[in-house]
Amino acid sequence: MLTIGVLASGRGSNFQSIIDSIDSGFLKAQVAVLITDNPEAYAIERAKKHHIDTLIIKPHDFSDKKAYYPHISDELKKRDVELVILAGFMRVVGKALIDQFQNRIMNIHPALLPSFPGLHGQKQAADYGVKISGCTVHFVDEGVDTGPIIIQAAVPAHHDDTEDSLSERILIQEHKIFPYAIKLYSEGRLVVEGHKVIIKGNKEDSLIINPPFQQ
Ligand code: GRF
Repeated sequence: MLTIGVLASGRGSNFQSIIDSIDSGFLKAQVAVLITDNPEAYAIERAKKHHIDTLIIKPHDFSDKKAYYPHISDELKKRDVELVILAGFMRVVGKALIDQFQNRIMNIHPALLPSFPGLHGQKQAADYGVKISGCTVHFVDEGVDTGPIIIQAAVPAHHDDTEDSLSERILIQEHKIFPYAIKLYSEGRLVVEGHKVIIKGNKEDSLIINPPFQQ
């Protein structure tokens, strides 16, 4: 069974969608640990409820900042974590962790990459006036939201959308595609070739999921 480690900084709704997908049997995986940099993160409560081991690891606790990601990497390895999930982890992941988990760290971004990377992807998209936005699950490389794209979902964007209204619409899809991407990984169906992710098996899976444009 796939062993996952989750890194989260905030409310953890994506973390919850993963927990729920495991509980429902959709995802054959186990969460070995939640690691957070924020002692106030609601994700901690979610972990508690599901008896998931939690570590609060803050960069400030390290006199040598360079030791932060090696430490996280050690904690993950100690627990035999194979796949690292960034579920709203609000930091750029350091090379020390990326090197140890090459193409084994997944992030979710609330925009259709490569458009609107970085913070507030939904606000960037709403302010720009796009007609379609969405979310992207990708493997993590050293850039900011630049790694190979695994799967995307599209949602409509309206001229009167605010950051909040668009975020809400996108979040519904985030909760579907993140567990789905993990499931594809757990089934050994993701092959990274250069900057592309090939999804083995059903061709449909490699297409953008287009949810009904009615929400
Ligand atoms: C989500 O919008 C995700 O796309 C972004 O951070 C947010 C985390 O939300 N990376 P949550 O903590 O999972 O509710």
